[in-house]
Amino acid sequence: MTAVRSVPLGCGAYLPERIVTNEELAKKVDTTDEWIVARTGIKQRHIAADDELTSDLGIEASRRALDDAGMDPRDLDLIVMATATPDDTFPATATKVQAALGMTRGAAFDVQAVCSGFVFAVSVADNFIKAAQAENVLVIGAETFSRILDWEDRTTCVLFGDGAGAMVLSKGEGDGTTADRGVLTNHLHSDGRLRDMLYVDGGPSSTQTAGFLRMQGREVFRHAVDNISEVIHEALDATGLQISDIDWFIPHQANKRILDGTAKKIGLPADRLVVTVDKHANTSAASVPLALCDLKENNKLKQGDLLLLEAMGGGFTWGSSLIRW
Ligand code: ACO
Repeated sequence: MTAVRSVPLGCGAYLPERIVTNEELAKKVDTTDEWIVARTGIKQRHIAADDELTSDLGIEASRRALDDAGMDPRDLDLIVMATATPDDTFPATATKVQAALGMTRGAAFDVQAVCSGFVFAVSVADNFIKAAQAENVLVIGAETFSRILDWEDRTTCVLFGDGAGAMVLSKGEGDGTTADRGVLTNHLHSDGRLRDMLYVDGGPSSTQTAGFLRMQGREVFRHAVDNISEVIHEALDATGLQISDIDWFIPHQANKRILDGTAKKIGLPADRLVVTVDKHANTSAASVPLALCDLKENNKLKQGDLLLLEAMGGGFTWGSSLIRW
């Protein structure tokens, strides 16, 4: 039996030049490097320059992903961009990326699922490809969370950073088994009842301002490991694969303790867990593709490797994707 598969052809990452270390942050807010490292594993974050927007980060990551894939932007049918920090309320930031890349046909739109955004965007792209509505899709996760942080709130401002990552998915054919290259399964969830645990206290319709991020950290932590573990098991159950089949676990990079806790709960050996949160903090929708690209840049990613992507974020939203590279 033949099956349409969304095959990853390449990826690209971009982090703004300016690095802010924990020590530098400790000069502005009442915190210490020791507290941040012990509670989160974060050592530094990248912060966008004043004139650098989410679209700029996304454009650079996209160019690198297209280069890596050997694809001309004019061959793209669709851009799906995950971001919770768009340049403007509208139009979609994806359309700015589209124009900058010189893509003059097809469609471009944003997806909003906060930290789970990239996994949601991969699922959207995969469904467009499987429905024969697109063949070549650019999936982007890009954020400037520094713009929605309350820099006087030490409980949140130490946790986040700016960045972007992108991946090219292209229509391929497999035999319908888990040996196929491409996206094998996606599982998405949300529960709007948990909105107050992680949200932004503003928006165009409510306050006519962008607002600031607010979070009940402990509650988020409590839900994270359970939700993530469950959605990972859904992906394994749907495919008949085992934890031992996973070559690389590429989680949303929120907090090293959440990553370690999840790996332990699902029984995944530490050497297959990709950790980059120390280098760029929580970059929301950008964190999964940033971790993916880090793996590739370090020459660890081989064709045929089985990747388990997962994320959880505001909403709550959470999801997983199994992809054979
Ligand atoms: N520096 C120093 N002290 C701090 C800081 C700081 N930056 N922030 C809080 N504290 C203090 C608190 O005031 C508190 O002091 P008190 O005991 O005198 O009241 C103490 O540290 C402990 O605070 P807690 O909030 O209980 O600390 P906790 O161990 O829960 O760690 C943290 C906080 C890191 C936010 C943790 O709850 C967490 O990681 N939660 C998950 C949040 C997350 O990752 N969100 C990202 C989005 S969702 C996602 O991506 C999965």
